[in-house]
Amino acid sequence: MSDQDADEAARTLPLRHSDDIQGDILAGFRKDHETVLLLRFPDDLAPVRNWLRRLIPHIATTRQVAAFNAEYSTARHTLAGTDPAALNATWVNVSLTYAGLRFLMDEEPFPDQQPEGVQAFVKGAFARAEINGDDGESAPGEWLFGRADQPVHAVLTVASDDQAKLEVRASQLRVAAARAGLTVTFEQVGATLPGERKGHEHFGFKDGVSQPGVRDFDRPDPRDPIHVHGKPGTRILPAGEFVVGHPKLTGEAPPLPEWTRNGSFQVVRRLAQDVPAWWAQAGAARRQLDKEGIELPPGTGTEWLAARAVGRWRSGASVAHNPNAEPPTKPGAPDDNLISYVDDPEGHTTPHFAHIRKTNPRDGIGGDFTNADTRRIIRRGIPYGQPFDPAAGTGHGPDADRGLVFIAYMADLAVQFEFLQQAWVNNVDFLQPETGNDPVIGKDTDVNLKLDTNPEGKKLHFAQFVRTEGTVYAFAPSLSTLRSL
Ligand code: HEM
Repeated sequence: MSDQDADEAARTLPLRHSDDIQGDILAGFRKDHETVLLLRFPDDLAPVRNWLRRLIPHIATTRQVAAFNAEYSTARHTLAGTDPAALNATWVNVSLTYAGLRFLMDEEPFPDQQPEGVQAFVKGAFARAEINGDDGESAPGEWLFGRADQPVHAVLTVASDDQAKLEVRASQLRVAAARAGLTVTFEQVGATLPGERKGHEHFGFKDGVSQPGVRDFDRPDPRDPIHVHGKPGTRILPAGEFVVGHPKLTGEAPPLPEWTRNGSFQVVRRLAQDVPAWWAQAGAARRQLDKEGIELPPGTGTEWLAARAVGRWRSGASVAHNPNAEPPTKPGAPDDNLISYVDDPEGHTTPHFAHIRKTNPRDGIGGDFTNADTRRIIRRGIPYGQPFDPAAGTGHGPDADRGLVFIAYMADLAVQFEFLQQAWVNNVDFLQPETGNDPVIGKDTDVNLKLDTNPEGKKLHFAQFVRTEGTVYAFAPSLSTLRSL
């Protein structure tokens, strides 16, 4: 079997599912621009049902998005044929909060006792703020959206590579919603950062590198003969980890109501980033190591320390494979995802606190991947605001609004997103006692930097410079369920 045949054979997700699962879950919207509209329903059910009926033909399916992404990638990798820049599409998907589903169904959507993930969805992100570590400046009473006094019923995600096309589609959606009596309670725009920063988040690091592969959907990594990895190198997991109603890693799907099949739970979170403050403290932490006489490899400065906080260099190259210096970027090289922590049990290379090790410890937890694999989420975020670059003028200064519109999909909010936030990111004793919280997204913390030259570890303070400014839990139902509402 040629590589290409093997690739095709791997895409066996039955069409009935790929036409039924909304786009952006298993196949991500390619986008430079995105608008998220948070909508409130009026009291009258009939116009809302009509609005939804009219919206459905515009909702992207997994099959459409996957086909477009494949065409784009072929155009990018072949010299002849379509210019990839000429290929663009504008995508829409819709998700509903518990209040939105309850209203549209006109009966209790979950009549029986449900697992904790469903209870989290029913209560909503505002009520679950403590679990997610949202307090102090991130307290839900301060949020711009998702507060108890701002009900959200539906979330529309509109994405495109073309800002003008996105704007046309977004205004059509706003008009249609207004006609049916829906109110836009919050609108969050996002855009990839310009120039060299494209694909990077505001702190400067490449984002979206490590996504789980999905079995029978993502192509296997050709470097991996036994197909435990999907392209580009992350482990390939059953669809049931991300889409409800499919077998999961640990066996059959939990018995959720039939209408949830082929849907996915969604977290939308606005995370403000204080870029200069975060880098200033990385610099201070690095100087502290000098002051205390910690022996370091030559040439290691603030970038070296910041790469330890993330687990990757700005380019996305892993610290695991490039411990002391950022390697030159090789165009076309596969993402650096075939990472193992087995040979680094003490975190002397990739610290236990590094953002990517905290949120996906891989084989570094007892050599068994299962626990790490059941916590995976599919991330579809995009930055908002202008890059920090004071010389570039208004909107680029330290006080301008900027951050990440974090969007993630999963089959269970409690087992996946909430567990990551509570048990790993904000647990000072994960991966080991006194590891510290995640220095990128966690609460104020002392991280313990262990090195070959200093195995006991050195405590470095990291204050919280990512603030939660809003969170909504929603559910992106299948197309067939949307038609039945
Ligand atoms: C990976 C930044 C929020 C979970 C990454 C990477 C960066 C990054 C630079 C490495 C590139 C990659 O693998 O994609 C940020 C920033 C955030 C943020 C700046 C907030 C402003 C979050 C949140 C979660 C999360 C809220 C979930 C609780 C992950 C996961 C990975 C990752 C699971 C992949 C780890 C791996 O598989 O190696 N993030 N992130 N991130 N992040 Fe975040």
